[in-house]
Amino acid sequence: MSTDNVTQEDGAVEGTFADPGVPEDHRPRRADVAPKAAKRAERQVAAMFGISVLGTAIAIWAYVTADGGGGDIGSVRYTTMFMGLGIFLAMIGIGTGAIHWAKTLMRDHDMVEERHATRSSDEARAGAVDNLKEGAKDSGIGVGRRGLLKGSLVTALAIAPLSVLVPAVGNLGGDWNVSKFRHTMWAKGVRLAKDPDGTLIKASDVTIGSVFHVIPDGLNELEEHKLEEKAKAVVLLIRMDPKNLKLRPGREDWSFDGIVAYSKICTHVGCPVALYEQQTHHLLCPCHQSTFDVADGAKVIFGPAKRPLPQLPIAVDDEGYIVAKDDFNEPIGPSYWERLK
Ligand code: FES
Repeated sequence: MSTDNVTQEDGAVEGTFADPGVPEDHRPRRADVAPKAAKRAERQVAAMFGISVLGTAIAIWAYVTADGGGGDIGSVRYTTMFMGLGIFLAMIGIGTGAIHWAKTLMRDHDMVEERHATRSSDEARAGAVDNLKEGAKDSGIGVGRRGLLKGSLVTALAIAPLSVLVPAVGNLGGDWNVSKFRHTMWAKGVRLAKDPDGTLIKASDVTIGSVFHVIPDGLNELEEHKLEEKAKAVVLLIRMDPKNLKLRPGREDWSFDGIVAYSKICTHVGCPVALYEQQTHHLLCPCHQSTFDVADGAKVIFGPAKRPLPQLPIAVDDEGYIVAKDDFNEPIGPSYWERLK
């Protein structure tokens, strides 16, 4: 193995580069000496790229055949599972294929390069460019060899992004998902019940400073496939001193004697808002610390959320129970839906 000293313009020796050469103890790989082994490795690499293509197809199939679950949590789980599996195969196929290609089919030679952490000399930089060109030549991309590998790699690389892009772009338009968040099971006259035991709530049960997790009456007995409806409908019922409550224009009759109800789903990315500070009347979302002022229409006073929590209009029926006056008048959940209105 011969070596060359590389000298900078000021005459200082910058580093030593060794000719690749072949060490005496170098053991060639099977694919280097046996054409059959090389062919087999080539087929294995192509198969891995094929797995990537298959993964992309599975992800897209799972997305386009999904029916949105229709409230069926099991169906949504399977869709998510197959989309995840497809994206996993798409990425792992390309990754393992590229590694196997490099380990079995690219030229196998030793190279020693020693240099200081300063700027390389022009000769060294030119040498790096030559090495890159060598690598490209080794891969067979530039010389018209290994058409199977080239074809499968190009196909896998070209369509793999679709496994992520199709669901992402598909969810940007239409009414497919928006409608699911625009309506909940609240409606005029539906009584408010404590979650999870379903106890109905009278206005007289709610003392100043108390907070209840509330669902529509009857929802606590629903089967599993309605759990999504329950999750969408959960609200926080809070009673404040009426003199501390700022009533928003148009919502003067949405509360009852200081009792207000707001969606429990954070308008940032949908975590359950949970922590109520009685002294300040602030509601805090534990995920990213968005803070809402219950005394002032649950407007955002801190954090990444962009709009107030949707308010559920409430009243009290003839028997003293708290009831909804209507559904929410805006989509619950992340602000994303708001922008699509
Ligand atoms: S989900 Fe509530 S702050 Fe992010």
